[in-house]
Amino acid sequence: MNIVIVGQGAIGLLCYAHISQVTAKQTSLLSSANQHENTNFTFTDHHNHEHNFAINNAEVNELKQADVIVYCVKSYQVCQAVKETQPFLKANALMVLAHNGMGCVEELASKVDLNITQPLLAMLMTHGSKKLSSSHIEHTGVGVIDIGLVDIDLAERGTLATSQAENRVQQLLSILTSAMPPVHWHNNIQQKQWLKLAVNCVINPITAINNIDNGQVNSAQYKPLIEKVMTEVVTVAKSVGVLLKFDELITTVLTVADATAKNCSSMRADVLANKTTEIDYINGYIHNLGKQNGIATPENTQLWQTVKALEALSH
Ligand code: PAF
Repeated sequence: MNIVIVGQGAIGLLCYAHISQVTAKQTSLLSSANQHENTNFTFTDHHNHEHNFAINNAEVNELKQADVIVYCVKSYQVCQAVKETQPFLKANALMVLAHNGMGCVEELASKVDLNITQPLLAMLMTHGSKKLSSSHIEHTGVGVIDIGLVDIDLAERGTLATSQAENRVQQLLSILTSAMPPVHWHNNIQQKQWLKLAVNCVINPITAINNIDNGQVNSAQYKPLIEKVMTEVVTVAKSVGVLLKFDELITTVLTVADATAKNCSSMRADVLANKTTEIDYINGYIHNLGKQNGIATPENTQLWQTVKALEALSH
């Protein structure tokens, strides 16, 4: 399979480092807007060994030949990245979205003329990756990959894409499994997306606003806030037919904060680097969906606005 990875951020380079090892010549990397385009980079693996990688930079030709394109860009860059690349892709290319937050698929459906034969997949990763410089990343934590088809129009697109794409999806799964195990396929990836969203609704804004490591989110002072945020997430999810268990969410947040205790969350890293955050697609998503469905989400709204204010200060 020819694979193009879009994005030279911590996750894009992590995927490139692993996937290019199992599909050497067929994997290429495209930088996203305003990104420094590397010709090589250093990868420190989770055993602390350093590897140097030459980058096969993707051009139009690689896009035209791609069987799979993996968008490892921030949620607010997804639409633009898809708009710029999709016209070159094969009619049956698999499009894989790997970003934090939710709302991109709805945005794509309204802004991009998506081809029904190009299945859209969501890839959720819990791997930790840290950018030490623009050309050096470190694999800070081994995680898992959850992947599945996302449905814009479940009835039409979902079934059509699934039946036609089954072979290609199987091939992709086998590449990913050799490159970055374990990989779990989900017929209902939406449930997993919501679980990840819930974790991000708590860890990301709390660490960014208070400038703390992930582990500190577990201290007693944040417990009431975490519970209120989660209650809102459960209610909003329910209004769109997604059933989440409050206790499971709380346990998941505590476990993730513990497992990544020394990590700097992506949102805190963005705030510290004066970059745009993904808050609109995390707590902002809950706020907007709540509003659409007549549900007040005061805690998520407050976190969303506080992070927006931090962003405004830095811009
Ligand atoms: O955005 C992040 O940093 C991560 O998704 C998470 C789970 C909060 C861990 O750092």
